[in-house]
Amino acid sequence: MIMTPGLRKFALTLHVIFSVGWLGAVISFLALVITALITEDAQTVVAIWIAMESIGWFAIVPLALASLLTGLIMSMGTPWGLFQHYWVLFKFFLAIFATIILLLNMGTVSDLANISAESGSIELAGMQGELIHAGGGLLVFL
Ligand code: HEM
Repeated sequence: MIMTPGLRKFALTLHVIFSVGWLGAVISFLALVITALITEDAQTVVAIWIAMESIGWFAIVPLALASLLTGLIMSMGTPWGLFQHYWVLFKFFLAIFATIILLLNMGTVSDLANISAESGSIELAGMQGELIHAGGGLLVFL
């Protein structure tokens, strides 16, 4: 089914908002990770784990799913198609891959945020892992 030009413009606007929003939310997550790795204050790190859990579940995950869904609508509702051009299929697989890693990683972030809040420990190794996840995610976007 091919979209009318007005509908296509509207859907593309949403697709770009969600996709670029996803990128922006990952950058904020990375800013928190960097702050946690350079601060000397344990309480700041505990608070940052909680903030990372919120940004992850309430911003990054919904934006990733919305970007994927609107991307699928853009490819199937326009002459681009999902399988006609390598870049559309490549984008699709990259976004699926990034979303699966994201969902798996958010389970870890929630666990470490709970441990950190309950015990006051900074979970340094976990924070270094988050640097790799958020940095890797950013590379996938680029
Ligand atoms: C990583 C997430 C994504 C980002 C950052 C992103 C970004 C963008 C941007 C900036 C455009 C506008 C290009 C232009 O008009 O010149 C666009 C268009 C498009 N995207 Fe995505 N996208 C993402 C995910 C996806 C996915 C998962 C699919 C397919 C399943 C997809 C399919 C498309 C298609 C078909 C268009 C062209 C729509 C049209 O010409 O009306 N995108 N995307």
